[in-house]
Amino acid sequence: MKLWGGRFEKSTDELMEQFNASIGFDRRLYNADITGSVAYAKALAYAGLITEAERDTLIDGLAQVREEFAAGTFEIKAGDEDIHTAVERRLHEIVGDVAGKLHTGRSRNDQVATDVRLFLLDAIAEVNGHLRNLQAAIVAQAESHLDTLMPGYTHLQQAQPVLLSHWLMSYFWMLQRDRERLDGCAERTAVLPLGAGALAGNALGLDRARLAEELGFRDVTPNSIDTVSDRDFIAEFLFSASLIGVHISRLAEDLVLFSTDEFGFVQVDEAYATGSSLMPQKMNPDSLELARGKTGRLIGNLVGLLTTLKGLPSTYNKDLQEDKEPLFDSVDTLVITLPVVAGVVRTLRVNKTRMAHDLSDAILATDLADYLMRRGVPFRQAHGIIGRLVRKANASCIALSQLAVKDFQAEHAAFDSDVYEVFDFVRSVEAKDAVGGTAPAAVKTQIAEAQALLNAASDD
Ligand code: ARG
Repeated sequence: MKLWGGRFEKSTDELMEQFNASIGFDRRLYNADITGSVAYAKALAYAGLITEAERDTLIDGLAQVREEFAAGTFEIKAGDEDIHTAVERRLHEIVGDVAGKLHTGRSRNDQVATDVRLFLLDAIAEVNGHLRNLQAAIVAQAESHLDTLMPGYTHLQQAQPVLLSHWLMSYFWMLQRDRERLDGCAERTAVLPLGAGALAGNALGLDRARLAEELGFRDVTPNSIDTVSDRDFIAEFLFSASLIGVHISRLAEDLVLFSTDEFGFVQVDEAYATGSSLMPQKMNPDSLELARGKTGRLIGNLVGLLTTLKGLPSTYNKDLQEDKEPLFDSVDTLVITLPVVAGVVRTLRVNKTRMAHDLSDAILATDLADYLMRRGVPFRQAHGIIGRLVRKANASCIALSQLAVKDFQAEHAAFDSDVYEVFDFVRSVEAKDAVGGTAPAAVKTQIAEAQALLNAASDD
C-alpha cells in the first residue's frame, strides 16, 4: 500500500523502492508510532473530526498492531515503505476503511518527528540509567581506595602524588556532566511536533496542547516550518553521546596503560579480557580497547548527521530519513558499552604496592618548593632552586632525599634538617585539602556529594 499513489501513472523503479524504504530500520519506532497514533485518534475525536466509536475502533486496532509487533508476528509486506505506512496498512486490514481517517490533518512529516522524539526520550532515560550504574561502580572503587597512593601524571610524566580514589572520581564528574547534558537534551526533546502537518500547520482545530499533555510532552513546537525539519534534538543527543564516548575512551586509555606490565597498577578481570590465538601468555584488555574504539563511531554518527543537515532547504526533505540510523547506532553503542565498562571498573584489581613503589622522590619537588616558600623564599626563586637540586641528585644517580643537608643549604640557607620531613607522600596528599583537592578529607567530601547525586537520581 502506498500512501501517495494517486497522482502517479507509472510504478516505482524496483531499486528506487529499496532506496526509498526505511522500514528496515525505522520499524523499531513501532511503539512510538502507535503511541502517537492512539493520542492522535483521541485528538481527532476531541475536535469532532471522528466519532467516539470510530476513535475506539482505531485505538483497538492499533493495540492489536502493537501486540503483533511485540510478539514478533507483524509481517512486513512489499510496499511497506516505512513504519508509518506499515502500521496504517495493517490497521486498515484489521479495522477496514475507518483506518483512512487516522491520518486526517496529519503528515508523515510531523508524525515521524513525533515518533523520533518519543523514542529518544525513552532512550535517554535508558542511557542515563547506564551512566548512573557506571558512576556507582566508580564510587564503590573510590570508597575502597581512600588511602591508596598513586603517582599523578601530567604529560604522562610523574607530577604529584594523588589518591587513586581522587583519580577515579575525576571520571565520576565527567559522567555527571554527561548526565546533566542528557537531561537538558531531554527537556528540549519533549516538545510536540504533531499538528505541524506537512509544513503549514493544522486547519482542523486540533488541540495541540492537549495532545502534548496526552503524550507526555511539556510543550508544543511554536513554528510548523521549523518543526518538520528540526533535528536539533538528535544532533544534541549525538553530541552528548560522543562526549560520553570521549570520556569513556579516556578512562579506557588510562586503564589500558595502567594495566600494562610496565605500569602494573591495575589488572582487568578475566571476565573482561581476551587471549591471543598465537601468544599463550597474553591477556588483553579488549573490553577497554573496544570502548575506546567505539567512540569513533559515536563521533562519526554526529558528524554524519550534521553534514546531512547543513545544506537542507527549509522544511522537510527526504535527506532527513538519514537521521535514524546514526541515532539508533549511538543508542545501541552506549547501551552495550556503558555496562561493560561498569563491569570492568567494578571488578578491577588494584596493585597498591606497585603504585606506592613507583612513587619517586622527584614527585615531591613541588612540595620542596612549598617548603622554601613557607620560609619566605618567593615561589619563582624556590622553583629554580629545587630544579637545580633535582639536577644535582640526577647527576649523582641518587634520590632527592639522599642529598645531604649541606647540599640543600648550598642552594639556599633557608634549608634546615627538617627538610627530610617533606619526603612523605601521605603528607603531601593530605596537604591538598582545599575543596576539590586530593586530600583524603576532600575526596571524602566529593564522594559524599557523589552519593547524594546518585541517590537523587534513583528517586526520579
Ligand atoms: N520515512 C520518512 C522519514 O523517516 C518519513 C517521512 C516521510 N515524509 C515524506 N514527506 N516523504 O523521514
